[in-house]
Amino acid sequence: MSSGNYKALVAEEKNGRFAQSVKTIQTDDLPNNDLLIRVHYSSLNYKDALSASGNKGITKNYPFTPGIDAAGVVEKSRDIRFKPGQPVIVTSYDLGMNTPGGFGQYISVPADWAIHLPGGLSLKESMMIGTSGLTAAIGTEKIISQNIKPDVSDVLITGATGAVGSFAVALLSHLGFRVTAATGKTDQEEFLKRLGAQRVIHRDEISDVKSRPLLSSKWVAAIDTVGGEMLDAVIRQSGHNGVVACCGNVLGNELHTNVLPFILRGVSLVGIDSGIAHMADRLRIWNRLSADWKPPAFEQLYTQSSLEELPGKIENILAGKQIGKVLVGLVDK
Ligand SMILES: NC(=O)c1ccc[n+]([C@@H]2O[C@H](COP(=O)([O-])OP(=O)(O)OC[C@H]3O[C@@H](n4cnc5c(N)ncnc54)[C@H](OP(=O)(O)O)[C@@H]3O)[C@@H](O)[C@H]2O)c1
Repeated sequence: MSSGNYKALVAEEKNGRFAQSVKTIQTDDLPNNDLLIRVHYSSLNYKDALSASGNKGITKNYPFTPGIDAAGVVEKSRDIRFKPGQPVIVTSYDLGMNTPGGFGQYISVPADWAIHLPGGLSLKESMMIGTSGLTAAIGTEKIISQNIKPDVSDVLITGATGAVGSFAVALLSHLGFRVTAATGKTDQEEFLKRLGAQRVIHRDEISDVKSRPLLSSKWVAAIDTVGGEMLDAVIRQSGHNGVVACCGNVLGNELHTNVLPFILRGVSLVGIDSGIAHMADRLRIWNRLSADWKPPAFEQLYTQSSLEELPGKIENILAGKQIGKVLVGLVDK
């Protein structure tokens, strides 16, 4: 493959419906940014599925190539920090939102969005982690920074079979925490236990609760990927000085809660937006993920997809059927 023509998954509106198909595009049509990168791997995130299905809150103009994650090799550089041939990772900023993204074999991005691939990771491994793994790792750092120690009490992960949830289960278990995985797919108990979960419960056990302002303490920390009623229930079940890291809105944007968990139990609700993480924080976390924070179980998290197979995977994620991570391979065999 040389720069010039390349393959990309393009989302566009046809007869009032959004659909995606693989098309041949020219690198000359990409924005003229510092780095031209030949993408080897990408990964599918919930945000990509929204962009691919015409969500104007994410992507304003179509036809468009989604993909907020990309790992590949620099082909051309106008920035002294990067040289042709060097392997790099780009996640978030505007990639795959309004800048053509990682579901294409080439991207063109500002050099400030890229990081050098850390020594302990291959390009493929970096996208087995991707934005969802980075998000789980940011949540994990936030929990640890509030003095929550491994082995003392249970940490809850909601949406546990999803991309963020499953990486969070694997990472926190690897770091020695006792992890309870809450899922709607109890047939995936074995998968979650292989990732390290000590306990797997049906998500209704969390959210199907009385409307009392405080409930029995069950968790010292949680990473919630779901939001809405689930997050409200998790906050009310948190123990003294508990930490709830909120990163997702699968159940919607609304959160109805009350002040008692905060003023009688000292619970902290912390937000995560991996898209605006500072470069220094990204570098520190990617370096950790390439070393002692690389959970052995993460190899079991992914299934690989070609660009042609992606539309089916996008439907799956929108239907809440995602299990683990979808890795996207972009190098022609
Ligand atoms: N803030 C950030 O920086 C950031 C970064 C990445 C992702 N996110 C957000 O985090 C959320 C999860 O992302 P993801 O990539 O992990 O998505 P995903 O792979 O689709 O996982 C979402 C999981 O949520 C659970 N779920 C689905 N429908 C549900 C329902 N009706 N009620 C309760 N749970 C339900 C399912 O897990 P179970 O079947 O196991 O319950 C599903 O696998 C999304 O909202 C995404 O936009 C935020």
